[in-house]
Amino acid sequence: MGFNFQDIRKDFPILDQRVNKHPWVYFDNAATAQRPKVVLEKIREFSVITNANIHRGTHDHAIRTTEAYENARDIVKEFLHAEAREEIIFTHGTTESINLVARSFCEKFLTTGDEIIVTEMEHHANIVPWQMACERHQATLKVLPFSDKGELRMELLETLITKRTKIIAVAHVSNTLGTVNPIEEIIQIAHSHNIPVLIDGAQSVPHASIDVQKLDCDFYAFSGHKIYGPTGIGILYGKRSLLEVMPPFLGGGEMIDQVTFKKTTYNELPHKFEAGTPHYVGAIALGSAIQYVQNIGLDKIAAYEHQLLNYATNQMKALGDLQIFGESPAKTGVICFKLDQIHPFDLGTLLDQLGIAVRTGRLCADPVMDHYQVTAMTRASFAFYNSEEEIDLFIKALQRIRSMF
Ligand code: ALA
Repeated sequence: MGFNFQDIRKDFPILDQRVNKHPWVYFDNAATAQRPKVVLEKIREFSVITNANIHRGTHDHAIRTTEAYENARDIVKEFLHAEAREEIIFTHGTTESINLVARSFCEKFLTTGDEIIVTEMEHHANIVPWQMACERHQATLKVLPFSDKGELRMELLETLITKRTKIIAVAHVSNTLGTVNPIEEIIQIAHSHNIPVLIDGAQSVPHASIDVQKLDCDFYAFSGHKIYGPTGIGILYGKRSLLEVMPPFLGGGEMIDQVTFKKTTYNELPHKFEAGTPHYVGAIALGSAIQYVQNIGLDKIAAYEHQLLNYATNQMKALGDLQIFGESPAKTGVICFKLDQIHPFDLGTLLDQLGIAVRTGRLCADPVMDHYQVTAMTRASFAFYNSEEEIDLFIKALQRIRSMF
């Protein structure tokens, strides 16, 4: 597998517990990942040993927290292979990152009659902010559909693009179908029409190394908690040329240069987009989480998770009368499925009784539910700390539940 599974497991003591008298099997990693000890230690360090607000004081603790926060920005910059640290904005998560662009970019560039393109497989966080922007600016939202196999209908992209298309927003990896979208191709097509592209990377950063310069994407958003870091912290990468001309998103302390009642001027990047006291503990701990996955190696993580995906997919298919939603060959460790006619909420509850945590419901992706004409789905999602033995427990649990119906 390329790394020592037993050692890795020791880094996540939370996994070593029983739920409903069964060993806990955590297969809800696409919703939030668990945090390794080194990240928890960092949170503790910057809560118990060192704490002061950043960028505001000249005293010892303020200097230490400020340095650690800005160091975390450098870690993220290197991780994404961004050109400049000023292009890395700390936000509360992917949702805020996308809202920032939808608000600020659209305020600058969107006018009545313009168009925005998203895809049918987006998470609500990459739909609703654009709908809101379209409402504000009397613009139109267009949707690139996906096939039943769970792949974007790329042949239709050019037909959706017009002279009025101002931005394309697309998930790198779908949170329901697990599909890894051809973002290189999308970016290339968009740029041939001078259209910038935002990539929702919430489901991709934990599973693949990202090079925003090679991709040439204009914006890339992700969340800390999906990559083994804390909740409440996220990243927006944006090309400096765009961020420079976009107006601030939130107003408040730190994002300003000078304030008078007559006129206020704004701070430079990245601070222009970081109003108020940020979640600096979260940012610092996110830096640790990124270093943790880098030490293991994202390529090794991806290869191991792919092994888990194949192992689980084959076993689930062997059960018969189980429908998997999303069967692209380019897929991360996410399996949305339906077992017989068992309602996902019943299935989720019964799996929990057997110690297995999955996500059930509409998965913040109503259009995907509508595509397959289902009211809900069950989702198992894997991380590198999961094992084939856990998948065996999951399969046995599905068999047992099926026999109850
Ligand atoms: N976006 C997260 C998910 O897909 C919460 O579950």
